[in-house]
Amino acid sequence: MKILGIESSCDETAFAVVESNGRVLSNVIASQIDIHARFGGVVPEIASRAHLEAIPSLFENVLAEASVSMDYIDAIAATQGPGLSGCLLVGFEFGKGLALRYQKPFIPVHHIVGHVESVFLGTEEDAWQSNLSNSSTISERFEPYLALVISGGHSSIISVPNQHEYKILGQTMDDAVGEAYDKIAKLLGLPYPGGPVLDKRAQKGDPESFKFPLPLTNNSEYKKGCMFSFSGLKTAVAREVEAERRKNKSEELSESFIIDIAASFQKTAVSSLIQRIENALDIFPTKRLALAGGVACNSEVRKQFQSHFSDIKIAIPKPEYCTDNAAMIAGVGATIYESQKNSSSFHNLQLNVKPSWSVEDFPNLS
Ligand code: KG4
Ligand code: ZN
Repeated sequence: MKILGIESSCDETAFAVVESNGRVLSNVIASQIDIHARFGGVVPEIASRAHLEAIPSLFENVLAEASVSMDYIDAIAATQGPGLSGCLLVGFEFGKGLALRYQKPFIPVHHIVGHVESVFLGTEEDAWQSNLSNSSTISERFEPYLALVISGGHSSIISVPNQHEYKILGQTMDDAVGEAYDKIAKLLGLPYPGGPVLDKRAQKGDPESFKFPLPLTNNSEYKKGCMFSFSGLKTAVAREVEAERRKNKSEELSESFIIDIAASFQKTAVSSLIQRIENALDIFPTKRLALAGGVACNSEVRKQFQSHFSDIKIAIPKPEYCTDNAAMIAGVGATIYESQKNSSSFHNLQLNVKPSWSVEDFPNLS
């Protein structure tokens, strides 16, 4: 079975063709990073126009790279939400149009669920493959697990006790962790998106040079919980940056200051993620942990989680499946379609985008 996936919830226009065993036949992305970089963040109106411009050639490329025509596609899956409404609309309506034109089932997919399940994508060397053979489907490989989704828009801990059942154990009370990376990078005069740049700088710095308090640990109510907060940490970093500029009577920051503050921030942010997952494991004990979303590309996240939770099987998708992509949307589409093949809901083209949509309300196949 082959599913065509479409993703356009933020600043990446993406298409993919994925088989029901998680094998990715093609995965194409038009990133808008260069367009938004000069504004230091995503501008929604510009983003939706860029999606419109990118779609026709991406659609051609995704089929060409997979060496298939629409005749061989079994169903179309598109991101329905959450995300920027103007952006979602472009990909979702295009998907509906294809479903109508080619008379294919249409599967609306939740973006965060896409991240949660991105660990099932790829080949045996990538992420999660069970001892079942690689010809088994994603559904056949399912076992309960805990997922940490860390991206520019989301920081959530989600338990998956059964297939297609998602429960939020914790989420951010303010900034997402990727957003904190992006804002701090901007403060330090580094380019957008800040995560990868700050990660590289942090690897060269001394993580002990600045002592930042671990978020939410001074409050007993939150200490044992799974909520996140990164705005206090961001403000603490901003204060040090201001003090440094005042001390030097210059806006210019030295490279040694940048690498040290990046390393100290990163150490605190990653420690906070680890501490929250420790708490989540008390609530949902499991031996399987999935890390997903753009920040799961982070070198320190990968290193610290692997060494800290050595008795847990940790799955981290390949970087191209961590950041926004359509393979993860097609992968979810495949399992949903398999579970309800004859559902008439796959032919409902009256659906609209859902810019604010909880994972707990997905899937809704009534
Ligand atoms: O998943 P994603 O592509 O988009 C959202 O759904 O938000 O994640 C993008 C975010 C950005 O904030 C980016 O700075 C961050 O992921 N990111 C990283 C790294 N690579 C990407 N953050 C920290 N370290 C990285 N290596
Ligand atoms: Zn995302």
